Amino acid sequence: MSKVHVMDHPLIQHKVSLMRDKETGPKEFRELLSEISTLMAYEVTRDLPLKTVEIETPICRAQTKVIAGKKLAIVPILRAGLGMVDGIMSLVPAAKIGHIGLYRDPNTLEPVEYYCKLPADAEEREILLVDPMLATGGSASAAISFLKRRGCKNIKLVCLIAAPEGTSRVQADHNDVDIFVAAMDEKLNDHGYIIPGLGDAGDRLFGTK
Ligand code: PRP
Ligand code: URA
Repeated sequence: MSKVHVMDHPLIQHKVSLMRDKETGPKEFRELLSEISTLMAYEVTRDLPLKTVEIETPICRAQTKVIAGKKLAIVPILRAGLGMVDGIMSLVPAAKIGHIGLYRDPNTLEPVEYYCKLPADAEEREILLVDPMLATGGSASAAISFLKRRGCKNIKLVCLIAAPEGTSRVQADHNDVDIFVAAMDEKLNDHGYIIPGLGDAGDRLFGTK
């Protein structure tokens, strides 16, 4: 069974609360999502492999550790996942970026795919699939299936807020994919929105409602 990691650092909890507030406008919402994504990236990359190199400090030669060149790709689910890319890239600037375009049909709640572009060597990379909202889990599960069809084997899902329904769905469909969330909320409402959640993440990021 894959693991669900809830990153409840006080700074993250504080910033998620500010994002939930309906008075928070798009500019602050975008800044907060970016900051939280950076904080989450610190934990999500905890298991990156290291190698030993020899360097010269001003005092002496020393054997010391650097990242072993593990190749990463960040793949946002459009639109709202875009808001997490810059924050993660600020820690791993060499990562490549792919895009998966999905929207949730408002009536069926089923994901509809409309775009996909991945790095040519995506299957050799560790993939950080990012989307702030994990509600029914339909979009994330479909995106992971797509990545696997493209040969990707090493995938982590990074979300801001999840409902238990969403993590259960992804774990049931993809038991090899660990899930990292900043907050695990209570449940979904009848329209598939997370309660308490923060509303529609895409609309709040881009000011479209
Ligand atoms: C939101 C969100 C996820 C999806 C989550 O996107 O960003 O992609 O819903 O819901 P699910 O877990 O039930 O599939 P939305 O479909 O609103 O598209 P948008 O990002 O373009 O606004
Ligand atoms: N998508 C969102 O943006 N918010 C939710 O609460 C559920 C799906």
